[in-house]
Amino acid sequence: AASAQAADHPHRPVTVAHRGASAYAPENTLAAVDAAADRDIDWVENDVQRTKDGKLVIMHDTTLNRTTNVEEVFPDRTSWKVSEFTLKEIKRLDAGSWFSPEFAGERVPTLAQYMNRVSRNHQKLLMELKAPELYPGIERQTLNELRRQGWLDRQHVKHRLIIQSFSADSVKTTHELRPDVKTGFLGTPAVADLPKYAKFTDQINPSHTTVSSDYVAAVHALRGAHGRPLEVYTWTVNDAAKAVKVADMGVDGIITNYPDVIRDAVGHKAKPAA
Ligand code: G3P
Ligand code: CA
Repeated sequence: AASAQAADHPHRPVTVAHRGASAYAPENTLAAVDAAADRDIDWVENDVQRTKDGKLVIMHDTTLNRTTNVEEVFPDRTSWKVSEFTLKEIKRLDAGSWFSPEFAGERVPTLAQYMNRVSRNHQKLLMELKAPELYPGIERQTLNELRRQGWLDRQHVKHRLIIQSFSADSVKTTHELRPDVKTGFLGTPAVADLPKYAKFTDQINPSHTTVSSDYVAAVHALRGAHGRPLEVYTWTVNDAAKAVKVADMGVDGIITNYPDVIRDAVGHKAKPAA
């Protein structure tokens, strides 16, 4: 009976829009959040960093020049680090034109603006603290901002928020500051080390190039920081065939630039006729 049930209800990983639906709109902008919503994708992933004047903004690279026109706007500068520009300066940048003229004038969002848009769209957030070693105290600051935005109430914490990082220290700090918030560690720790991670995280989130059925099973065999089986969200899977493979390995989530394609490949398998 158990196997018949499994066949009728195939494993359906959660689909997460990587940097927003970043195949369709410039990554980590409000347009990318909307591009996910337009495709009925409720989970979005982003990257949080800090400006020179201490404001939280959404940006993947630790430098501004790949995804904005910073070199044009500030021709006299020779370095493009997020941490070397004030929010006012960053707000002058065009974060859309590099992707397509259709998105000219798109801005780098603050975390507050980003949360507003995710809330307005009734979406959920897999938030990454990017390079937190460059931004001491960013865990507490981010949690404070989330609290101000109403994102640390019971409903949000239970259903709509996960905070992840490649830095185990940062994930641990986040967990210690707010043990109720769900967390993820980005990487592929050795199986023997997983119990250490399980003390402060709910997810182990490996690159798809490193994941296997055995690894997923080893993660699932442990209970995470909240007492439920540790989960696996893998990244960045942009191809339907690969998505089927990782879904068959048992992953719980797939982080992708093409969330509609991946959701259609593994999220909505037709049920057998009754
Ligand atoms: O969410 C996982 C993924 O975003 C990690 O890699 O470089 O895209 O931040 P990266
Ligand atoms: Ca990321």
